[in-house]
Amino acid sequence: MTTKPSNTTPIQERVEWTIERLIASCPDPAQLSPEERRGIIARYAAVLEGNFIYWMTAAYLSVASDEAHAIVQDNLREEVRDNHPGMLRRFAMAARALPTDVDALAVWPALESVRRFVAGLSGVKIVLMMTFFEGFISRFMPYLAELAASQGSAEREYTDVHGVVDIEHTQGLFRASEAEMTLMNDECPPAEELFEGLELLQTLIQSILRLGVPGVSVSGAGLTRGDQTWRVPNMPGPRDAVDEVP
Ligand SMILES: [Fe+2]
Repeated sequence: MTTKPSNTTPIQERVEWTIERLIASCPDPAQLSPEERRGIIARYAAVLEGNFIYWMTAAYLSVASDEAHAIVQDNLREEVRDNHPGMLRRFAMAARALPTDVDALAVWPALESVRRFVAGLSGVKIVLMMTFFEGFISRFMPYLAELAASQGSAEREYTDVHGVVDIEHTQGLFRASEAEMTLMNDECPPAEELFEGLELLQTLIQSILRLGVPGVSVSGAGLTRGDQTWRVPNMPGPRDAVDEVP
């Protein structure tokens, strides 16, 4: 049996509950080695810098209501006008945490799953995923700033800006998802399908935090993690530099 949401309150509760759980599961920075702290910042940058605006653009292309279009467009304009990817790159550089190929491989399988989901261009599901993303980012900023400070960095522009603006963005995106659901009415996916993107993004964030995510190994067959293998066409055999992803 499927159920349809009557309004966004249960959805908002689900989004906030997922964010709370993720934040609560962040490892204590004081217990992490410098390399572990660097890795979290680097994987965060590897995911956010090149994908956030692209996924928000997918939301813009996918929504149908005027209100959702306006809200997502405002968000995109701010991202581009204020050069948020550049802000994040400066933050990562100052913490000496630019992503390496090992960092990129550690998040790659979960990142690819989100990209395939986004390619489906389902407006309401992508807006809900981005609502969750914005909400998580704003709550994650004090932790990210603490990691960078522990690495000796005093660069704070990225974390200061996103701790404030993303709270407003999250509320705006909740309104956008409500507008989409109202417009879709009976065409709206059932509640349990609405969270498809949120769940995939949650897995990706867990791989940034390395919570319960085993390492990825590289072989001639592709990338392997546990009993799962991702085949990569035309990939050469193992290379020493990326043979073991921690
Ligand atoms: Fe941003």
